[in-house]
Amino acid sequence: MLVFVKDKTVDRNSQDKDIKSGLTFPSGCVYSDAMKFQSIRGVNDILPGEIEAVQRLEEAARSVFESFGFSEIRIPIFEVTELFARGIGATTDIVEKEMYTFDDRDGKKITLRPEGTAPVVRAYIEHQLNLKAPVTKLYYLGPMFRHERPQAGRFRQFYQIGVEALGTDRPTMDVEVLAMLMAVFQNVGVTEVRLEINSLGDAACRPHYRKTLKAYFKTHLAQFCEDCQRRYETNPMRILDCKKEGCRAVAAKAPSPLDHLCAECLAHFQQVKDGLNRLKIPFVVNEHLVRGLDYYTRTAFEITTTKLGAQNAVAAGGRYDGLVEELGGPPTPGIGFAMGVERIASLMEGIETPRPDVFFALLGEEAVRQMLPVIVRLRGHGVRVEMDYSGGGLKKQMGLADKLGARYTLMVGENELKSGKAILRDMATKAQEEILLTTLPDPLMKIIRS
Ligand code: HAM
Repeated sequence: MLVFVKDKTVDRNSQDKDIKSGLTFPSGCVYSDAMKFQSIRGVNDILPGEIEAVQRLEEAARSVFESFGFSEIRIPIFEVTELFARGIGATTDIVEKEMYTFDDRDGKKITLRPEGTAPVVRAYIEHQLNLKAPVTKLYYLGPMFRHERPQAGRFRQFYQIGVEALGTDRPTMDVEVLAMLMAVFQNVGVTEVRLEINSLGDAACRPHYRKTLKAYFKTHLAQFCEDCQRRYETNPMRILDCKKEGCRAVAAKAPSPLDHLCAECLAHFQQVKDGLNRLKIPFVVNEHLVRGLDYYTRTAFEITTTKLGAQNAVAAGGRYDGLVEELGGPPTPGIGFAMGVERIASLMEGIETPRPDVFFALLGEEAVRQMLPVIVRLRGHGVRVEMDYSGGGLKKQMGLADKLGARYTLMVGENELKSGKAILRDMATKAQEEILLTTLPDPLMKIIRS
């Protein structure tokens, strides 16, 4: 077995005397007593101090989604690879080069979900949710995995909050879904965002557009990057989305999908725009907005911000009227979006780390023994209580109370036990008052709640 000692790879069998634990590891496992473990590049811990914005965003999303009648669904972290290859499209970047795919122990090909739409549609079909309600409205939160090149705002494990509405192709649903998305941004105070929309046509008009597009691109093939040379054959619409200079110049003059929509798609798009206008939701039509996933039909959209540099898309989605059928279900239209949690959380301001309502500065075992039931009762009423676990003196404990930002500190030592009165200190004003120990926790709760 090979073992990594810092940067050096050694044969574990020849190093046995250096290895103290005596544990055996599956073959290929990286191990060393001396090694410092680090998270994998692009895979982050979200620490206290950072998590509060994420929690606030999740709360806001849940509350907005539920007011629109959406219910939560928990989908698995991994699925069979074929689901994503079929759902997202075999020639997309995600499927071609970004999926975390491995052989399960029984030889099945498994993929860590790179997105949530295909799994939700799989669950919709598997559980016949179409029979339970005419329209199924679901939301989900959780990690997604893509082997992208990590950079600021782009990770290999990242979190999404997404929604999927299945069962109607009415433009009203497109408008509702967009209104809901904007309401979440509003709710968390992220207001400097721009909504771009487009229509990608449907099975009736898209093939004609694709042909026109290919004919235009054919005369510019030499200007394309390597990826787009390939995309020309496999997925020409994706060229419109390429960020490379040469491709962008060609794409800028490409025919617009909007000029090739059939009458139904055109009317649908018009009604979506009318609906957004009626709700006073600002938007810009970007006729070159195409998405990196193949399932989209008709409405496609993206929300961007100017505050994040290159990775400026904070949410994206669209309609996918053919996906349920593609994955083996009955013909069922659908629409949804996913929000990039880390990106949005980084834009949220004024999020406070929760601080203790009261810190118990307890001196001596007897004080701890007598106050523990009081602490438990307070916590049972939702009061945030902290205490010292290191057995430090009063000065050290007050220092800790300060550091934690406690609003109040209740001091109980030998003297207080004797007199039967604890001292409560308001940490901001430094004012102190006495509280009868026998009356706790009621007066304390009153003060904290006032
Ligand atoms: P997507 O555009 O691939 O769409 O991802 C949605 C959002 O997830 C992006 O706008 C971005 O904020 C965030 N995101 C994507 N990749 C990364 C990454 N590597 N690091 C950090 N954040 C990232 C979808 O996933 C579709 N399933 C959305 C959808 C739902 N369409 C219909 N229903």
